Amino acid sequence: MFRRIRSYCLFGIKAVPVSVEVDASQGLPGFTLVGLPDNAVRESRERVVSAIRSVGKVVTGFRTTVNLSPADLRKEGSALDLPLAIGMLVSTGEIEIPKLDRYVFIGELSLDGLLKPVRGVLSVAMSLPRGQESILVIPKANSTEASLVEGLRYISADTLSECIEILEGGAECSISVAKGLTQKSVPPSSSIPDFRNVVGMSGVKRALEVAAAGAHNFLLVGSPGAGKTLCARCLPGILPEMTDEEILETTRIHSCARRAGDSEAFKPVLSRPFRTPHHSASMVALVGGGARLLPGEASLAHNGVLFLDELPEFNRGVLEALREPMEDGAISVSRASGTVVWPARFMMGAAMNPCPCGFAMDPKRACTCLPDARKRYRERISGPLLDRIDIQVSVPPVEAGQFVGRPGGESSASIRERVCAARSIQHRRFSGTPFKSNAEMSSECAHRFAMMSQATERFAVSAADKMNLSARGYYRLLKVARTIADLRKNESVEIPDLSEALRYKTYS
Ligand SMILES: Nc1ncnc2c1ncn2[C@@H]1O[C@H](COP(=O)(O)OP(=O)(O)O)[C@@H](O)[C@H]1O
Ligand SMILES: [Mg+2]
Ligand SMILES: [Zn+2]
Repeated sequence: MFRRIRSYCLFGIKAVPVSVEVDASQGLPGFTLVGLPDNAVRESRERVVSAIRSVGKVVTGFRTTVNLSPADLRKEGSALDLPLAIGMLVSTGEIEIPKLDRYVFIGELSLDGLLKPVRGVLSVAMSLPRGQESILVIPKANSTEASLVEGLRYISADTLSECIEILEGGAECSISVAKGLTQKSVPPSSSIPDFRNVVGMSGVKRALEVAAAGAHNFLLVGSPGAGKTLCARCLPGILPEMTDEEILETTRIHSCARRAGDSEAFKPVLSRPFRTPHHSASMVALVGGGARLLPGEASLAHNGVLFLDELPEFNRGVLEALREPMEDGAISVSRASGTVVWPARFMMGAAMNPCPCGFAMDPKRACTCLPDARKRYRERISGPLLDRIDIQVSVPPVEAGQFVGRPGGESSASIRERVCAARSIQHRRFSGTPFKSNAEMSSECAHRFAMMSQATERFAVSAADKMNLSARGYYRLLKVARTIADLRKNESVEIPDLSEALRYKTYS
């Protein structure tokens, strides 16, 4: 008998409909699988036959042909195990499923018939045509992802036999209807260090407040042990909450990055990601791609922060690859089979020493590096990359005397309130535009929204001239000044806002 089973395959972040067509007939027993399967899919026959045997059914005495259509799309991974198993069971007449056409199957099988979670179920759930009667059938460990898409109807099961039992019985009482995102954005977790415990460093704290308020990229430069890493780690505590839309966007990427077979409960990403890839990270690890087209750290940081500690230690090619997402908010990976576009709109943060020995900017200790070595160190970070970093601050070492009694500073929670207020001004400003923050706006908007008086504009132009800013540098200056004015809830950008923004341009 011929049967067609509906399923989906991932292509980057997109979920593409795939039919698993199974034809089982009498004849010399055999099995043929066509339609561009990868190795994991090719091996699924072994898993499927064994899983089916574990539920007491036999499907091996047939001549079975399986076609995965569309035939020109490369099918990857183990998610087709479940549709293949169901296809073999119905086409050999072992089971009978009423209204088979309304189900969409996704899931990996183990040899003993357990249903194991697969990656990207949220993408599938979001792609499923609405209005039409479709029911997603998935492993129970993937049900959180399905439950996030409001109105979606789904069935989840732990084993193949449970799945068969539900479907043969008509399934009506096992269908869940997704409630959508019920859990809202959460306040920053207590494991994040608090700015209250950072002694001194008021300039750096202020710079990070401005960066968080406008989603500006930032760079901290200072001696080893000055507290650069510490301050950056405090940053998540002052970032604004994510909107529901942002939570879904980010969770979808994380769902695609989930390791197959990882049965740990999947949680939606409720607070802004703060990703800290190690400097030995490869190109694929950072920007994504590879044989399985997985998202990289830059995409996992979508709507959050990508923090690169010890920036000059990163491979230069890898850093250059970040320029594309920093401009476009997305990464495209080209393949013979087409181009995959990963969302990657993040705030880039970085920290570095000023020179190989680390003390070039230290008032107390002498730098022992040769000028040539210092120059080469600086050159590991290209001009175009530095040009895209709006906020560059030097981190002076805190005087030991300041630690006496460890005077506390302002808490992260109270800084965060100002950041959130500045973000809501931006939210109103950008309604109806594609932008979400000051850092993202176009140069035309940067000029229009600055609302500078003529005198202020003359000041901005002459300062940019003196500092040899590029055109991009000039507009980035206006954007930072816009954020500073937003933090003090002022309509127009004024000279003090520009002066502060200019102080953040020291390094390039
Ligand atoms: N201003 C500060 N207030 C409190 N602790 C500090 C401060 N600066 C540095 N430290 C302490 O020094 C340690 C080293 O700081 P770190 O951020 O790793 O330095 P860097 O990254 O600049 O080399 C931190 O773990 C922190 O405990
Ligand atoms: Mg450090
Ligand atoms: Zn040095």
